[in-house]
Amino acid sequence: MKPESSPRPCIGVFDSGVGGLSVLRALHARLPGVPLRYLADSAHAPYGERDPAHVEARSEAITRHLLAQGARVIVVACNTATALAVHRIRALWPELPVVGVEPGIKPAVALSPHGRIGVMATPGTLASVRFAELLQRHRGNAHWHLLPCPGLAKAIEQGTLDDPALLAMVRHFAADLRDAKVDTVVLGCTHYPFVADPLRAALPEGTRFIDTAHAVADRAATLWAALGIDVTPDAMRLSTTGDPEAMARVARPWLGFAGTIDHVDV
Ligand code: DGL
Repeated sequence: MKPESSPRPCIGVFDSGVGGLSVLRALHARLPGVPLRYLADSAHAPYGERDPAHVEARSEAITRHLLAQGARVIVVACNTATALAVHRIRALWPELPVVGVEPGIKPAVALSPHGRIGVMATPGTLASVRFAELLQRHRGNAHWHLLPCPGLAKAIEQGTLDDPALLAMVRHFAADLRDAKVDTVVLGCTHYPFVADPLRAALPEGTRFIDTAHAVADRAATLWAALGIDVTPDAMRLSTTGDPEAMARVARPWLGFAGTIDHVDV
């Protein structure tokens, strides 16, 4: 992708891969016409099973790239990058409005009928200090079943959501949640909404799901409005450090996206 001479102001969104498209969809619905630029760092995914220093370095490089593309608000559409790197982005760019994504612990407590809550997230998110603090703040008297899901984001990242191996993996994690008798499941990784249907099918009827994409979109909309930027409406632009075709397999049905996905080296 060629850098524009005077980049148009936009909201920059990133994730380790396609997961953040679940957040992008909510953003697009909340802010139709506002220029959105999305970067999937698929060549360096999964973040949730990498060293925290790697996630920090990638998040910094990608934020720098999105700023050069005109981003005036950054949405870290990744629970793992938020847990491990949002402090770094805020320290480097103190004036920049930044929105992160965190597992919906507080809404789960409010919604759970019997206080039995499962949290599906990457190993990196669940091992982070930031997650421990979040849980400590809101855990109340609920029973928490923390379920790291190694391999799941990576399998979703392949873009074939009806792949039998992926569906078997989803059933495996669902069986764990069923055994723990949870009534509410927090989708604590932005990749997981893409398998919400098979998960739902494998869990008792009435199990509630928590996905914070809409809350994140609301927060980004507030920060964008506060900047008072007047832009002509634009279509969203998608790019990836990995394979554009794998990304398109998710972006087409999920977003109705028919445009070109650029490959970028960041
Ligand atoms: N989608 C990311 C998250 O919300 C991370 C997936 C990964 O790369 O491990 O945590």
